[in-house]
Amino acid sequence: MVTVLVAGGTGEAGRAVVAELAGRGHDVRVLSRRGGSPIAGAHPVAADLISGSGLADALAGVDVVVDTTDGKSRRARPVLTTGAANLIAAAGAAHVTRTVLLSIVNVDRGPLAYYRAKAEQEQRYRTAGLDTRIVRATQFHSFVPMLCAPAARVGLLPALTHTAFQPIDVRDVARGLADAADGRSPAPDIVGGPEILRMDDIVRQWKSATGVRGAVAPIRLPGALGRFWRAGENLVPGHRDGTITFAQWLAQQPRR
Ligand SMILES: NC(=O)c1ccc[n+]([C@@H]2O[C@H](COP(=O)([O-])OP(=O)(O)OC[C@H]3O[C@@H](n4cnc5c(N)ncnc54)[C@H](OP(=O)(O)O)[C@@H]3O)[C@@H](O)[C@H]2O)c1
Repeated sequence: MVTVLVAGGTGEAGRAVVAELAGRGHDVRVLSRRGGSPIAGAHPVAADLISGSGLADALAGVDVVVDTTDGKSRRARPVLTTGAANLIAAAGAAHVTRTVLLSIVNVDRGPLAYYRAKAEQEQRYRTAGLDTRIVRATQFHSFVPMLCAPAARVGLLPALTHTAFQPIDVRDVARGLADAADGRSPAPDIVGGPEILRMDDIVRQWKSATGVRGAVAPIRLPGALGRFWRAGENLVPGHRDGTITFAQWLAQQPRR
């Protein structure tokens, strides 16, 4: 058993990582700004990666750090850059033996400012001089529903043409991150979902399983992101690591 701190352990991926690590018998600390823990056996710690407040105390006695933080809005995004730098510095000062970062497949080729921040986050871990494992995942099962949710509010379910995703369950991602945290060799550096599905198929499955209202609307996404996805840069066909399909995940979601 080692002490593992999961930064962002109250988030979507982080919660699954906390459960997986606790299930393997580790002593788990859950770091977030608001505090709290997704499971009873893990210890919540409140700290802010951007300001650095609470970080030194949070890391005292920690063996392994798993970074699953995220900043989806422009304002929150510095958690991926400044926040990562602060976490890495605090991990070094606390003599943490290993760090593990959750990242995204082909993030260094992604055309968005968000992808550039994630690529910078990876680079900060790679050059930190610590034993670091970076695990890149394909999009989570919740990704396409999250993408469609704003348009669904006005009755549209956008289905990007010639675009596919390889959605993965965060519990499958968590197993890869926990293997990396445990120092298993070879450690996974890529985890992909079990199936590659066209976006219109994902949207139709989501509509039929959840009862979300709206017309499925084929849309050609202009610009660099549209080209990135149409080129299949978000896919890893040789990595069908996930065990839980999109349909199985949908069946476990609360009905609207
Ligand atoms: N969504 C996908 O399809 C996908 C695919 C592959 C990889 N990823 C990667 O997976 C990671 C996790 O994403 P997610 O959707 O699971 O994240 P999420 O649900 O938004 O959770 C983010 C977590 O980070 C914490 N956090 C944010 N800012 C913080 C700060 N300044 N200090 C301390 N904690 C902070 C949040 O807690 P508080 O708000 O309480 O601080 C929360 O626990 C991201 O790095 C993302 O790039 C996502």
